[in-house]
Amino acid sequence: MQEQILPAEGKLGILLPGLGAVASTMIAGVIATRKGLSKPIGSLTQTGHIELEEGSKDNYSLIKDYVPLAALEDVVFGGWDIYEDNIYQAATHARVLDQRLLDSIRPELEVIKPMRAVFDRDYVRNLDGKFIKNSATKWDAAQELIKDIETFKKANNVSRVVIVWTGSTEKYLEQSAVHETIAAFEAGLKSNDVNIAPSMVYAYAAVSQGIPFINGAPNLTTDIPAIVQLARKTKTAIGGKDFKTGQTLMKTIVAPGLAARSLGVSGWYSTNILGNRDGLVLDDEQNFKTKEVSKLGVLEDILRPDLHPDLYGDLYHKIRINYYPPHGDNKESWDNIDIFGWLNYPMQIKINFLCRDSILAAPIVLDLALFADLAQRAGMYGVQDWLSFYLKSPQTQNGEQAENDVFKQLNTLKQVLRTIKQQDTQELPALDLTKETEPAI
Ligand SMILES: NC(=O)c1ccc[n+]([C@@H]2O[C@H](COP(=O)([O-])OP(=O)(O)OC[C@H]3O[C@@H](n4cnc5c(N)ncnc54)[C@H](O)[C@@H]3O)[C@@H](O)[C@H]2O)c1
Repeated sequence: MQEQILPAEGKLGILLPGLGAVASTMIAGVIATRKGLSKPIGSLTQTGHIELEEGSKDNYSLIKDYVPLAALEDVVFGGWDIYEDNIYQAATHARVLDQRLLDSIRPELEVIKPMRAVFDRDYVRNLDGKFIKNSATKWDAAQELIKDIETFKKANNVSRVVIVWTGSTEKYLEQSAVHETIAAFEAGLKSNDVNIAPSMVYAYAAVSQGIPFINGAPNLTTDIPAIVQLARKTKTAIGGKDFKTGQTLMKTIVAPGLAARSLGVSGWYSTNILGNRDGLVLDDEQNFKTKEVSKLGVLEDILRPDLHPDLYGDLYHKIRINYYPPHGDNKESWDNIDIFGWLNYPMQIKINFLCRDSILAAPIVLDLALFADLAQRAGMYGVQDWLSFYLKSPQTQNGEQAENDVFKQLNTLKQVLRTIKQQDTQELPALDLTKETEPAI
């Protein structure tokens, strides 16, 4: 972390690979908020408070007044998609927001048009958009993305850019040799290695230029040594993965409570139905596997069966996602939780959450973009695990076990904001918040 934080001067470009339901809901929400038509509910950066002194009850500040975040008025949006729809069309297609609201901001939404995507159908078999780059190699594709970013910056007079991946979930991929080092990865880009996913090409393009990149899907993307090393080399903030919404949000709220009361859990069955394009993509087994792996880890991390074998040693955890078009973006989830208490007496908890996927995800995208920009201006580079509050399967700095308890995550986030504040006002000697030493991988 550097001595003082660079001010949020000029415009901030938020670029989103994947301009679908989540992205269009976030963009429309910010524009509606700017015009005084709506309120940014669910966004910590816009409505959340922080205690000024630890433990004090009546001494609060809005987070956006506490640390130097970019103002919503200074944000400009852009992105890429495999479909040519502008944001008005994408939001209309997504059917998340009321059409009357979209119509009232139609001109502002229509001017936001996608750039041609870097896409490989092998990674998302259920989509067949044609608005894609025709690059000879993945290396060329990365160079074209870098040019896109430059063009966007000039056209919109933008001084800084952050990228948040809001694209579809890609098929399941395990880390392999091409992901191990920057050199292997660059060689793989040039030789069109099949193990380099499109999202990784975006991540490489961004991080090579010192542009923060946060991954909102469960894909590996930034969670490979090559991108982590590149982020350290170019001093760039990165993070991921998978926005924490819906069922997993509930899980990370309820599980810490059960653990706090030393109640046992023998089974947790989670199933849900959703009918949006994300659901269609996840209807493919390979893409579902990526999501399943991301969702499964949270309970073990919170309940720690290794420390509490009597309470959680036999925990059976199962997750299903089913594509059900009539529900659209309105996901419905059911959790059956088998718990046990004093003398092993069993009890059950049932949760039926009728949520709106993109309504929960939109403020997360905004907050991640604004905090990633703050981190970059504060000189904090590498994996920003203090942002794990927003993520289902948090990437950690050196592969340590992730913290999934939402309350502990919020504490960490606020502690980092306090340190940034103290640093900015020079109340403290410089602290190294990046914790980055020599690459451990
Ligand atoms: N909504 C939630 O609650 C939630 C929670 C966690 C994670 N996510 C993840 O966020 C992502 C977006 O969700 P959504 O509901 O907006 O899905 P969506 O299908 O509506 O939007 C994704 C968009 O990405 C585009 N796309 C796919 N591959 C691309 C590529 N290589 N380059 C550019 N664009 C590409 C698709 O055409 C689509 O328009 C998904 O990966 C989803 O799993 C969503």
